[in-house]
Amino acid sequence: MKKVFISLLSLLLFTNMQAQQNKVISAGMNKVKLDFMLDEEGQPQYAVSYGEKGVIKKSALGIALANDNAFDKNFELTGTEKKSVDETWKPVWGEVSQIRNHYQQLTVHLKQMNTPRRLLDIVFRIFEDGVGFRYEFPKQPDLKYFIVSGELTEFNLTGDHKAFWIPGDYDTNEYPYVTSKISEVDNKQMVDTSTAIAVRVAPDRYAVQTPLMLKSNNGMYINIHEAALVNYPAMQLHVDNHSYQLSVNLVPDALGNKAYLHAPCHTPWRTIIVSDKATDILASKTILNLNDPSVIENTSWIKPMKFVGVWWEMQTGKSTWSYAANADSTTTDGNLIASGLHGANTANVKRYIDFAAQNGIGGVLVEGWNTGWEDWFGNWKENVFDFVTPYPDFDVNAITQYAAAKGVKMIMHNETSGSATNYERQMDTAFRFMNKFGYAAVKTGYVGKIIPRGEHHDGQWMVNHYIRVAQKAAEYKVMLDAHEPVRPTGLQRTYPNWMASEAGRGNEYNAFSSGNPPEHETIMPFTRLMGGPMDYTPGIFKIKGYSNNPERQVHTTLAKQLALYITMYSPLQMAADLPENYEKHMDAFQFIKDVAVDWDDTKIIEAEPGDYITIARKEKGAANWFIGAITDENSRNTTIPLNFLDKGTKYVATIYADADNAGWKDNPEAYTIKRMAVTTATKLNLKLAKGGGAAISIKPQP
Ligand code: NOJ
Ligand code: CA
Repeated sequence: MKKVFISLLSLLLFTNMQAQQNKVISAGMNKVKLDFMLDEEGQPQYAVSYGEKGVIKKSALGIALANDNAFDKNFELTGTEKKSVDETWKPVWGEVSQIRNHYQQLTVHLKQMNTPRRLLDIVFRIFEDGVGFRYEFPKQPDLKYFIVSGELTEFNLTGDHKAFWIPGDYDTNEYPYVTSKISEVDNKQMVDTSTAIAVRVAPDRYAVQTPLMLKSNNGMYINIHEAALVNYPAMQLHVDNHSYQLSVNLVPDALGNKAYLHAPCHTPWRTIIVSDKATDILASKTILNLNDPSVIENTSWIKPMKFVGVWWEMQTGKSTWSYAANADSTTTDGNLIASGLHGANTANVKRYIDFAAQNGIGGVLVEGWNTGWEDWFGNWKENVFDFVTPYPDFDVNAITQYAAAKGVKMIMHNETSGSATNYERQMDTAFRFMNKFGYAAVKTGYVGKIIPRGEHHDGQWMVNHYIRVAQKAAEYKVMLDAHEPVRPTGLQRTYPNWMASEAGRGNEYNAFSSGNPPEHETIMPFTRLMGGPMDYTPGIFKIKGYSNNPERQVHTTLAKQLALYITMYSPLQMAADLPENYEKHMDAFQFIKDVAVDWDDTKIIEAEPGDYITIARKEKGAANWFIGAITDENSRNTTIPLNFLDKGTKYVATIYADADNAGWKDNPEAYTIKRMAVTTATKLNLKLAKGGGAAISIKPQP
């Protein structure tokens, strides 16, 4: 009897499964369509299309648990829900002053057919320009505390797309981009040769980092990333060179586990942004829309700004972060012996404060001000910095008073050299110190191997650490710029004081390595910047000759460095070169003085990853527009219609362009500045040199 009952039950289950397996549940928004289904084994699957074109072929979904019953298959559908949302919200700062959040939501409720009959929900949001989805684990008796050993999400591409990628590395995003077919992805050579990157851990030679930018032969631009990465490791993608399948690879912790969760909870969103126009990818607000609103109620202290810093002089070897030549360079009673090269000395800092005050630059960053730099990284040492003890030649009181008198904000530097445990212990003390001495912002840094030892920069523990720092900074009303953190996923919406991150290959690589190729800045907005602003540190005017190594130079023209203030979006924007280098070109520096850092509106005028980008932005609360146009290693002629300008207003445009004979390699510092009257009917003809660019400010005629 029992046997009959069991086979009857399994027959019922089987029929139910067959019925369900044929059932496709769809949701869509304009051209974007999402299909959900269960396969023969009860594993969830999805597919995405864009008009007539397939974006993601049928692909698996699911989560694998460590030391536990299988949680990947045997699901039945117990219900679905749909809703649509159309709302508008205002970011605290941003590329636009208003953002429309318009989507259809499909939730599928799944239950395993075998005991312990556990529950899993998958929530899909379908936007006009893509799809976000995440796994949700409802409160339930048999799935409470669990360990994720892997994520089974796949993205089956419809062809051998062109891909713009960097290696899937657990500890760094600081590689130059490779452009190749999906079938040609192999990161080994890039990882092996990128010796300028302090820590490289890329065990899977076929893994790439996200945001991954793709272009299909049939004219689709596809971007794959994630949104709202909280309490979970970063997602990387393992590439199958033959089937063009991308499968999720989560960054492991010290034990090899991926995430420790406690239901009810959910994963971050997986995002697929798609369009037939490259410009739509750059204009997408889907990742921001998938993040939670600001948790900071009073945001009046959060103010986008430009800054200069005692920084590039260390990057280029003119001065040092450390006070003494090395850790052993001490007197017999243990005091460091000054090497005479220390950059962060009071007189030098005052020079930067003067320059900022004279030119309306809001902030001054000082690196190398605190003790510890003699052996700051590379030794996996836990307690290097205390974040409050200045070197003897850095008079923090005097500097605070001097900066305050001149109306300049100081930016703190907290390099942790990867020792997050030490930073967590010191954080309150560090932020109290910032408050006491009036520091408005902090730049953190994570160069070196992470402590807790065995953790990676992009694992769950560190993901949570960066958020704890943002929360702590908010508690003390300090703005945050994180270097070497996990790459951003739109959390700047939730923590608007976390204004920028590096998490990519910044301009600084031009100082200490073979540098960034001229196409680099045409790829970054499609990849790294999809998740959030980048502290790229633009504005280098002395393009060549700053290093004894003749190979080293910035791989752009000077005019392109100006254009980056528009094309590399950040609400904290550095003017990275030295005052003495700016003083030789104050006519060009005028653009940096004028350019805004917060915007009412943004128009992506033209763009092609790897080739060129032209963007126009309207200053927040003002009638001024700024345009940045950049190209790769090829020179380029382009015509920009100014049809976004107000009808009936007459403007003056100041055009900072490459000189006719300019070029990134041979004549990078040659530029022209031209003024002309323009209106909404004007079409501007621009000629960009090889590795060049143009920057334009447009103001109403006085
Ligand atoms: C790497 C950062 O990107 C750079 O900006 C900083 O100067 C050094 N680390 C030292 O902290
Ligand atoms: Ca190119």
